[in-house]
Amino acid sequence: MICENITANGNHLYFAALDTVDLAKKHGTPLYLMDENRIRSNCRIYLNAMKKYFGEGSHPLYASKAASFKRIYEIMKEEGMGIDLVSPGEIYTAVKADFPMENSFFHGNNKTDSDIALAMDKGVGYFMADNMCELKAVNTLAKEKGITQKVIIRLTPGIDPHTYAAVATGKVDSKFGVAIETGQADEFVKEAITFENIEIVGYHCHVGSQVFDEEGSVYLDASTIMLSFGAEMQKKYGVEMKILNMGGGFGVRYTDADPYMDIDGNIEKLAEHIKNETARFGISMPKILMEPGRSIVADAGMTLYSVGTVKEITGYKNYVSIDGGMTDNPRYALYGSKYTVLLANRMDEEKDFTADVAGRCCESGDIIQPDVKMPKPQRGDIIAVCTTGAYNYSMASNYNRIPRPPVVMISGGKDYVAVKRESFEDLIRNDL
Ligand code: LLP
Repeated sequence: MICENITANGNHLYFAALDTVDLAKKHGTPLYLMDENRIRSNCRIYLNAMKKYFGEGSHPLYASKAASFKRIYEIMKEEGMGIDLVSPGEIYTAVKADFPMENSFFHGNNKTDSDIALAMDKGVGYFMADNMCELKAVNTLAKEKGITQKVIIRLTPGIDPHTYAAVATGKVDSKFGVAIETGQADEFVKEAITFENIEIVGYHCHVGSQVFDEEGSVYLDASTIMLSFGAEMQKKYGVEMKILNMGGGFGVRYTDADPYMDIDGNIEKLAEHIKNETARFGISMPKILMEPGRSIVADAGMTLYSVGTVKEITGYKNYVSIDGGMTDNPRYALYGSKYTVLLANRMDEEKDFTADVAGRCCESGDIIQPDVKMPKPQRGDIIAVCTTGAYNYSMASNYNRIPRPPVVMISGGKDYVAVKRESFEDLIRNDL
Protein backbone atom coordinates (compact mmCIF):
# COMPACT_ATOMS: atom_id res chain seq x y z
CA MET A 1 0.00 0.00 0.00
CA ILE A 2 1.13 3.54 -0.66
CA CYS A 3 1.00 4.58 3.01
CA GLU A 4 1.16 2.60 6.29
CA ASN A 5 -2.24 3.85 7.46
CA ILE A 6 -3.93 1.92 4.59
CA THR A 7 -4.37 -1.82 5.08
CA ALA A 8 -6.62 -4.62 3.90
CA ASN A 9 -8.32 -6.98 6.32
CA GLY A 10 -10.13 -9.80 4.53
CA ASN A 11 -12.13 -8.11 1.80
CA HIS A 12 -12.39 -4.76 3.57
CA LEU A 13 -10.13 -1.74 3.31
CA TYR A 14 -8.98 -0.23 6.60
CA PHE A 15 -7.83 3.34 7.09
CA ALA A 16 -6.12 4.46 10.29
CA ALA A 17 -7.09 1.04 11.71
CA LEU A 18 -10.83 1.49 11.08
CA ASP A 19 -13.02 -0.39 8.60
CA THR A 20 -13.82 2.01 5.77
CA VAL A 21 -16.99 0.10 4.87
CA ASP A 22 -18.34 0.66 8.40
CA LEU A 23 -17.33 4.34 8.23
CA ALA A 24 -19.14 4.77 4.91
CA LYS A 25 -22.27 3.19 6.41
CA LYS A 26 -22.09 5.29 9.56
CA HIS A 27 -21.39 8.70 8.01
CA GLY A 28 -22.71 8.24 4.46
CA THR A 29 -20.84 9.01 1.24
CA PRO A 30 -19.13 10.93 -0.21
CA LEU A 31 -16.97 11.17 2.85
CA TYR A 32 -13.58 12.70 3.60
CA LEU A 33 -11.60 10.81 6.21
CA MET A 34 -8.59 12.25 7.98
CA ASP A 35 -6.11 10.40 10.15
CA GLU A 36 -5.30 12.76 13.03
CA ASN A 37 -2.33 10.70 14.22
CA ARG A 38 -0.80 10.82 10.76
CA ILE A 39 -1.22 14.62 10.61
CA ARG A 40 0.50 14.91 13.98
CA SER A 41 3.35 12.57 13.06
CA ASN A 42 3.91 14.43 9.78
CA CYS A 43 4.13 17.70 11.76
CA ARG A 44 6.62 16.12 14.17
CA ILE A 45 8.92 14.97 11.39
CA TYR A 46 9.32 18.62 10.36
CA LEU A 47 9.35 20.01 13.92
CA ASN A 48 12.06 17.59 15.06
CA ALA A 49 14.19 17.81 11.94
CA MET A 50 14.14 21.60 11.82
CA LYS A 51 15.03 21.92 15.47
CA LYS A 52 17.74 19.26 15.20
CA TYR A 53 19.44 20.54 12.05
CA PHE A 54 18.75 24.29 12.08
CA GLY A 55 18.48 24.88 15.84
CA GLU A 56 16.05 26.74 18.10
CA GLY A 57 13.88 29.36 16.43
CA SER A 58 13.72 27.52 13.12
CA HIS A 59 10.41 25.75 12.63
CA PRO A 60 7.77 24.69 10.11
CA LEU A 61 4.59 26.56 9.23
CA TYR A 62 1.64 24.52 8.05
CA ALA A 63 0.47 25.87 4.65
CA SER A 64 -3.19 25.75 5.55
CA LYS A 65 -4.45 26.19 1.98
CA ALA A 66 -3.91 22.40 1.78
CA ALA A 67 -6.78 21.83 4.21
CA SER A 68 -8.35 24.63 6.19
CA PHE A 69 -10.99 24.15 8.88
CA LYS A 70 -11.11 24.87 12.61
CA ARG A 71 -9.96 21.47 13.86
CA ILE A 72 -6.82 21.57 11.71
CA TYR A 73 -5.74 24.87 13.28
CA GLU A 74 -6.38 23.42 16.75
CA ILE A 75 -4.13 20.48 15.91
CA MET A 76 -1.45 22.85 14.58
CA LYS A 77 -1.65 24.88 17.77
CA GLU A 78 -1.29 21.74 19.89
CA GLU A 79 1.69 20.57 17.83
CA GLY A 80 3.43 23.96 18.07
CA MET A 81 3.37 24.59 14.33
CA GLY A 82 3.26 28.05 12.80
CA ILE A 83 0.72 28.59 10.01
CA ASP A 84 0.72 30.10 6.54
CA LEU A 85 -2.53 31.88 5.70
CA VAL A 86 -3.55 33.21 2.30
CA SER A 87 -6.94 34.84 2.71
CA PRO A 88 -9.19 36.62 5.20
CA GLY A 89 -11.28 33.44 5.32
CA GLU A 90 -8.30 31.41 6.50
CA ILE A 91 -7.41 34.15 9.00
CA TYR A 92 -10.97 34.14 10.33
CA THR A 93 -11.01 30.34 10.66
CA ALA A 94 -7.65 30.28 12.49
CA VAL A 95 -8.82 33.02 14.88
CA LYS A 96 -12.03 31.09 15.59
CA ALA A 97 -9.88 28.05 16.42
CA ASP A 98 -7.94 30.18 18.94
CA PHE A 99 -4.71 29.81 17.05
CA PRO A 100 -1.97 32.09 18.47
CA MET A 101 -1.88 34.55 15.60
CA GLU A 102 1.61 35.84 16.38
CA ASN A 103 2.75 32.54 14.83
CA SER A 104 0.87 33.15 11.60
CA PHE A 105 2.24 34.36 8.28
CA PHE A 106 -0.01 36.09 5.77
CA HIS A 107 0.63 35.32 2.10
CA GLY A 108 -1.09 36.29 -1.13
CA ASN A 109 -0.40 38.24 -4.30
CA ASN A 110 -3.38 40.55 -3.90
CA LYS A 111 -4.14 41.44 -0.33
CA THR A 112 -6.89 44.04 -0.30
CA ASP A 113 -6.90 46.95 2.15
CA SER A 114 -9.61 45.22 4.15
CA ASP A 115 -7.60 41.96 4.22
CA ILE A 116 -4.59 43.89 5.49
CA ALA A 117 -6.64 45.68 8.14
CA LEU A 118 -8.24 42.42 9.30
CA ALA A 119 -4.85 40.69 9.51
CA MET A 120 -3.46 43.55 11.61
CA ASP A 121 -6.52 43.66 13.86
CA LYS A 122 -6.28 39.93 14.45
CA GLY A 123 -2.57 40.20 15.30
CA VAL A 124 -1.13 38.23 12.37
CA GLY A 125 2.61 37.98 13.12
CA TYR A 126 4.16 38.44 9.73
CA PHE A 127 3.13 39.73 6.33
CA MET A 128 4.75 38.09 3.34
CA ALA A 129 5.12 41.08 1.03
CA ASP A 130 4.47 40.04 -2.54
CA ASN A 131 4.78 43.37 -4.36
CA MET A 132 5.37 47.10 -3.83
CA CYS A 133 1.73 48.02 -4.28
CA GLU A 134 0.88 45.86 -1.30
CA LEU A 135 3.83 47.00 0.79
CA LYS A 136 2.72 50.62 0.47
CA ALA A 137 -0.77 49.70 1.62
CA VAL A 138 0.66 47.71 4.56
CA ASN A 139 2.78 50.70 5.59
CA THR A 140 -0.17 53.11 5.35
CA LEU A 141 -2.44 50.89 7.42
CA ALA A 142 0.30 50.13 9.96
CA LYS A 143 0.80 53.88 10.39
CA GLU A 144 -2.93 54.43 10.89
CA LYS A 145 -2.98 51.72 13.56
CA GLY A 146 0.23 52.98 15.18
CA ILE A 147 2.11 49.70 14.78
CA THR A 148 5.31 48.48 13.16
CA GLN A 149 4.47 45.49 10.96
CA LYS A 150 7.03 42.72 10.55
CA VAL A 151 7.42 41.86 6.90
CA ILE A 152 9.15 39.08 4.96
CA ILE A 153 9.74 39.80 1.28
CA ARG A 154 8.70 37.10 -1.18
CA LEU A 155 11.30 36.64 -3.90
CA THR A 156 11.46 34.50 -7.03
CA PRO A 157 14.84 32.81 -7.12
CA GLY A 158 14.38 31.71 -10.73
CA ILE A 159 14.40 27.98 -10.07
CA ASP A 160 12.54 25.35 -12.07
CA PRO A 161 11.32 22.70 -9.61
CA HIS A 162 10.36 20.14 -12.32
CA THR A 163 6.73 19.78 -11.34
CA TYR A 164 3.47 20.59 -13.18
CA ALA A 165 3.15 24.14 -14.48
CA ALA A 166 0.20 25.17 -12.31
CA VAL A 167 2.26 24.77 -9.17
CA ALA A 168 5.75 25.87 -10.30
CA THR A 169 5.97 29.23 -8.57
CA GLY A 170 9.63 30.08 -8.11
CA LYS A 171 10.37 30.97 -11.71
CA VAL A 172 11.15 34.56 -12.73
CA ASP A 173 7.88 34.99 -14.66
CA SER A 174 5.72 33.88 -11.71
CA LYS A 175 2.71 35.93 -10.61
CA PHE A 176 4.11 35.73 -7.08
CA GLY A 177 6.95 37.67 -5.55
CA VAL A 178 9.71 39.92 -6.76
CA ALA A 179 12.35 38.72 -9.21
CA ILE A 180 15.97 38.71 -8.11
CA GLU A 181 17.33 38.20 -11.62
CA THR A 182 15.82 41.39 -13.07
CA GLY A 183 17.23 43.63 -10.32
CA GLN A 184 13.70 44.42 -9.11
CA ALA A 185 14.22 42.67 -5.77
CA ASP A 186 17.19 44.98 -5.06
CA GLU A 187 15.10 48.04 -5.90
CA PHE A 188 12.32 46.66 -3.72
CA VAL A 189 14.52 46.33 -0.63
CA LYS A 190 16.01 49.77 -1.21
CA GLU A 191 12.56 51.33 -1.18
CA ALA A 192 11.10 49.05 1.52
CA ILE A 193 13.60 50.20 4.13
CA THR A 194 12.41 53.78 3.76
CA PHE A 195 8.94 52.87 5.10
CA GLU A 196 8.57 53.91 8.71
CA ASN A 197 5.99 51.42 9.88
CA ILE A 198 7.53 48.34 8.39
CA GLU A 199 10.33 46.17 9.65
CA ILE A 200 11.91 43.93 7.01
CA VAL A 201 12.91 40.76 8.82
CA GLY A 202 13.83 38.45 5.96
CA TYR A 203 13.05 36.78 2.68
CA HIS A 204 10.83 34.02 1.37
CA CYS A 205 10.74 31.78 -1.67
CA HIS A 206 8.52 28.88 -2.66
CA VAL A 207 9.79 26.94 -5.65
CA GLY A 208 6.67 24.87 -6.27
CA SER A 209 4.59 21.96 -5.09
CA GLN A 210 4.75 18.14 -5.34
CA VAL A 211 8.53 18.44 -5.74
CA PHE A 212 10.62 15.29 -5.24
CA ASP A 213 13.93 16.93 -6.06
CA GLU A 214 15.54 13.60 -6.86
CA GLU A 215 18.76 15.25 -8.00
CA GLY A 216 18.78 17.03 -4.65
CA SER A 217 19.56 20.47 -6.07
CA VAL A 218 16.30 22.45 -6.20
CA TYR A 219 16.16 23.57 -2.56
CA LEU A 220 19.93 23.86 -2.20
CA ASP A 221 20.23 26.06 -5.29
CA ALA A 222 17.28 28.18 -4.23
CA SER A 223 18.81 28.70 -0.78
CA THR A 224 22.15 29.74 -2.30
CA ILE A 225 20.41 32.38 -4.42
CA MET A 226 18.43 33.63 -1.43
CA LEU A 227 21.46 33.77 0.89
CA SER A 228 23.60 35.46 -1.70
CA PHE A 229 20.88 38.07 -2.19
CA GLY A 230 20.53 38.49 1.58
CA ALA A 231 24.27 39.01 1.96
CA GLU A 232 24.24 41.61 -0.81
CA MET A 233 21.35 43.50 0.78
CA GLN A 234 23.15 43.50 4.11
CA LYS A 235 26.27 44.93 2.52
CA LYS A 236 24.44 47.51 0.40
CA TYR A 237 21.63 48.64 2.68
CA GLY A 238 22.47 47.19 6.10
CA VAL A 239 19.37 44.96 6.12
CA GLU A 240 20.00 41.84 8.15
CA MET A 241 18.33 38.62 7.00
CA LYS A 242 16.94 37.37 10.31
CA ILE A 243 14.56 34.91 8.70
CA LEU A 244 14.83 32.81 5.57
CA ASN A 245 11.59 31.06 4.64
CA MET A 246 12.19 28.29 2.10
CA GLY A 247 8.49 27.67 1.37
CA GLY A 248 6.83 24.30 0.96
CA GLY A 249 6.57 21.78 -1.80
CA PHE A 250 7.85 18.37 -0.71
CA GLY A 251 6.12 15.66 -2.75
CA VAL A 252 3.89 12.86 -1.47
CA ARG A 253 3.04 9.41 -2.79
CA TYR A 254 -0.21 9.25 -4.73
CA THR A 255 0.63 5.93 -6.40
CA ASP A 256 3.18 3.16 -6.04
CA ALA A 257 5.16 4.76 -8.86
CA ASP A 258 5.90 7.84 -6.73
CA PRO A 259 9.17 7.87 -4.78
CA TYR A 260 9.36 8.18 -1.00
CA MET A 261 10.39 11.63 0.16
CA ASP A 262 12.93 11.55 2.97
CA ILE A 263 11.89 14.73 4.76
CA ASP A 264 14.38 14.43 7.62
CA GLY A 265 17.24 13.64 5.22
CA ASN A 266 16.37 16.52 2.92
CA ILE A 267 16.20 18.97 5.80
CA GLU A 268 19.54 17.69 7.12
CA LYS A 269 21.14 18.28 3.71
CA LEU A 270 19.56 21.70 3.37
CA ALA A 271 20.78 22.70 6.83
CA GLU A 272 24.34 21.66 6.10
CA HIS A 273 24.27 23.54 2.82
CA ILE A 274 22.79 26.70 4.38
CA LYS A 275 25.39 26.64 7.17
CA ASN A 276 28.21 26.39 4.62
CA GLU A 277 26.73 29.09 2.41
CA THR A 278 26.17 31.57 5.24
CA ALA A 279 29.83 31.13 6.18
CA ARG A 280 30.87 31.58 2.55
CA PHE A 281 28.79 34.77 2.21
CA GLY A 282 29.96 36.07 5.60
CA ILE A 283 26.51 36.45 7.15
CA SER A 284 25.07 35.01 10.33
CA MET A 285 22.74 32.04 10.21
CA PRO A 286 19.13 33.22 9.80
CA LYS A 287 16.18 31.44 11.41
CA ILE A 288 14.86 29.01 8.84
CA LEU A 289 11.17 28.50 8.16
CA MET A 290 9.54 25.98 5.86
CA GLU A 291 5.90 25.85 4.74
CA PRO A 292 4.76 22.29 4.12
CA GLY A 293 1.11 21.81 3.22
CA ARG A 294 0.68 18.67 1.14
CA SER A 295 3.25 16.63 3.06
CA ILE A 296 1.43 17.38 6.34
CA VAL A 297 -2.08 16.34 5.34
CA ALA A 298 -2.19 14.52 1.97
CA ASP A 299 -1.47 10.99 3.15
CA ALA A 300 -3.64 11.61 6.22
CA GLY A 301 -6.67 11.72 3.93
CA MET A 302 -8.92 9.33 2.06
CA THR A 303 -12.25 9.86 0.29
CA LEU A 304 -15.02 7.27 0.21
CA TYR A 305 -17.75 7.17 -2.43
CA SER A 306 -20.63 4.86 -3.30
CA VAL A 307 -20.79 3.35 -6.74
CA GLY A 308 -23.90 4.26 -8.72
CA THR A 309 -23.96 3.51 -12.42
CA VAL A 310 -21.62 1.08 -14.18
CA LYS A 311 -21.62 1.78 -17.91
CA GLU A 312 -19.90 -0.46 -20.47
CA ILE A 313 -19.54 0.94 -23.99
CA THR A 314 -18.90 -2.19 -26.00
CA GLY A 315 -15.59 -2.03 -27.82
CA TYR A 316 -14.73 1.36 -26.26
CA LYS A 317 -14.50 1.88 -22.55
CA ASN A 318 -16.22 1.58 -19.20
CA TYR A 319 -17.36 4.15 -16.68
CA VAL A 320 -17.98 3.69 -12.99
CA SER A 321 -19.93 6.67 -11.67
CA ILE A 322 -19.73 7.69 -8.05
CA ASP A 323 -21.76 10.01 -5.82
CA GLY A 324 -19.06 12.72 -5.71
CA GLY A 325 -16.54 13.96 -8.26
CA MET A 326 -14.83 17.17 -9.31
CA THR A 327 -16.82 19.07 -6.69
CA ASP A 328 -14.95 17.31 -3.88
CA ASN A 329 -11.77 16.51 -5.81
CA PRO A 330 -11.05 18.68 -8.87
CA ARG A 331 -7.39 17.63 -9.12
CA TYR A 332 -7.61 15.21 -12.02
CA ALA A 333 -9.82 17.67 -13.94
CA LEU A 334 -7.37 20.50 -13.25
CA TYR A 335 -3.95 18.88 -13.34
CA GLY A 336 -4.41 15.30 -14.55
CA SER A 337 -3.33 14.20 -11.07
CA LYS A 338 -2.80 10.52 -10.40
CA TYR A 339 -4.54 8.70 -7.56
CA THR A 340 -4.73 5.19 -6.16
CA VAL A 341 -8.34 4.01 -6.30
CA LEU A 342 -9.55 0.88 -4.46
CA LEU A 343 -12.81 -1.02 -4.19
CA ALA A 344 -13.06 -0.85 -0.41
CA ASN A 345 -15.53 -3.69 0.19
CA ARG A 346 -13.96 -6.17 -2.25
CA MET A 347 -10.26 -5.93 -1.56
CA ASP A 348 -9.55 -9.64 -1.99
CA GLU A 349 -11.10 -9.97 -5.46
CA GLU A 350 -9.27 -9.97 -8.74
CA LYS A 351 -8.90 -6.61 -10.50
CA ASP A 352 -10.16 -7.80 -13.88
CA PHE A 353 -12.20 -4.77 -14.92
CA THR A 354 -10.91 -1.41 -16.19
CA ALA A 355 -12.93 1.78 -16.02
CA ASP A 356 -12.76 5.53 -15.69
CA VAL A 357 -14.06 6.55 -12.29
CA ALA A 358 -16.38 9.44 -13.10
CA GLY A 359 -18.09 12.02 -10.93
CA ARG A 360 -21.75 13.00 -11.00
CA CYS A 361 -21.39 16.49 -12.47
CA CYS A 362 -22.84 17.46 -15.83
CA GLU A 363 -19.42 17.73 -17.40
CA SER A 364 -17.39 15.13 -19.34
CA GLY A 365 -14.19 16.29 -17.68
CA ASP A 366 -15.54 15.26 -14.30
CA ILE A 367 -13.25 12.30 -13.88
CA ILE A 368 -11.57 11.29 -10.63
CA GLN A 369 -9.19 8.87 -12.32
CA PRO A 370 -9.07 7.18 -15.74
CA ASP A 371 -8.22 3.53 -16.43
CA VAL A 372 -8.64 2.18 -12.93
CA LYS A 373 -8.26 -1.58 -12.53
CA MET A 374 -10.68 -3.12 -10.05
CA PRO A 375 -13.10 -6.00 -9.59
CA LYS A 376 -16.20 -5.18 -11.64
CA PRO A 377 -18.16 -2.96 -9.26
CA GLN A 378 -21.84 -3.11 -8.46
CA ARG A 379 -24.19 -0.37 -7.41
CA GLY A 380 -23.62 0.28 -3.70
CA ASP A 381 -19.98 -0.82 -3.60
CA ILE A 382 -17.60 1.56 -1.86
CA ILE A 383 -14.78 3.24 -3.77
CA ALA A 384 -11.85 4.68 -1.86
CA VAL A 385 -9.52 7.31 -3.28
CA CYS A 386 -6.27 7.51 -1.33
CA THR A 387 -4.06 10.48 -0.42
CA THR A 388 -6.84 13.07 -0.64
CA GLY A 389 -6.01 15.00 2.54
CA ALA A 390 -4.47 17.96 0.69
CA TYR A 391 -6.15 20.26 -1.81
CA ASN A 392 -9.41 18.29 -1.89
CA TYR A 393 -11.71 19.61 0.85
CA SER A 394 -10.00 23.00 0.50
CA MET A 395 -10.66 23.07 -3.26
CA ALA A 396 -14.19 21.68 -3.11
CA SER A 397 -17.07 23.57 -4.70
CA ASN A 398 -20.85 23.50 -4.90
CA TYR A 399 -20.94 23.15 -8.69
CA ASN A 400 -24.28 21.65 -9.76
CA ARG A 401 -25.44 22.55 -6.24
CA ILE A 402 -23.76 19.51 -4.80
CA PRO A 403 -23.22 19.83 -1.03
CA ARG A 404 -19.68 19.34 0.27
CA PRO A 405 -18.99 16.07 2.11
CA PRO A 406 -18.16 16.05 5.82
CA VAL A 407 -14.64 15.66 7.17
CA VAL A 408 -14.45 12.81 9.65
CA MET A 409 -11.29 12.56 11.72
CA ILE A 410 -9.92 9.34 13.10
CA SER A 411 -7.88 9.44 16.27
CA GLY A 412 -6.80 6.53 18.46
CA GLY A 413 -9.20 4.15 16.73
CA LYS A 414 -12.19 6.49 17.15
CA ASP A 415 -13.92 8.61 14.53
CA TYR A 416 -15.41 12.06 15.06
CA VAL A 417 -16.91 14.68 12.77
CA ALA A 418 -14.62 17.71 12.29
CA VAL A 419 -16.70 19.35 9.54
CA LYS A 420 -20.40 18.55 9.11
CA ARG A 421 -21.89 17.47 5.79
CA GLU A 422 -23.42 20.46 4.00
CA SER A 423 -27.19 20.36 3.82
CA PHE A 424 -29.47 21.60 1.04
CA GLU A 425 -30.41 24.36 3.47
CA ASP A 426 -26.72 25.36 3.64
CA LEU A 427 -26.75 25.64 -0.15
CA ILE A 428 -29.55 28.21 -0.19
CA ARG A 429 -28.48 30.03 2.98
CA ASN A 430 -27.40 33.16 1.15
CA ASP A 431 -30.03 33.09 -1.60
CA LEU A 432 -32.48 35.97 -1.18
N1 LLP B 1 4.02 28.11 0.58
C1 LLP B 1 3.52 28.78 -0.46
C2 LLP B 1 3.86 30.18 -0.63
C3 LLP B 1 2.68 28.14 -1.37
O1 LLP B 1 2.19 28.82 -2.40
C4 LLP B 1 2.34 26.79 -1.18
C5 LLP B 1 1.45 26.09 -2.10
C6 LLP B 1 2.88 26.13 -0.05
C7 LLP B 1 3.73 26.81 0.79
C8 LLP B 1 2.59 24.69 0.24
O2 LLP B 1 3.07 23.84 -0.72
P1 LLP B 1 2.95 22.26 -0.52
O3 LLP B 1 3.86 21.88 0.61
O4 LLP B 1 1.53 21.96 -0.21
O5 LLP B 1 3.36 21.69 -1.81
N2 LLP B 1 -3.80 23.09 -5.71
C9 LLP B 1 -2.53 22.49 -6.10
C10 LLP B 1 -1.42 22.90 -5.17
C11 LLP B 1 -1.24 24.39 -5.11
C12 LLP B 1 -0.08 24.78 -4.21
C13 LLP B 1 -0.14 26.23 -3.92
N3 LLP B 1 0.87 26.69 -3.05
C14 LLP B 1 -2.68 20.97 -6.11
O6 LLP B 1 -3.76 20.48 -5.79
O7 LLP B 1 -1.74 20.27 -6.47
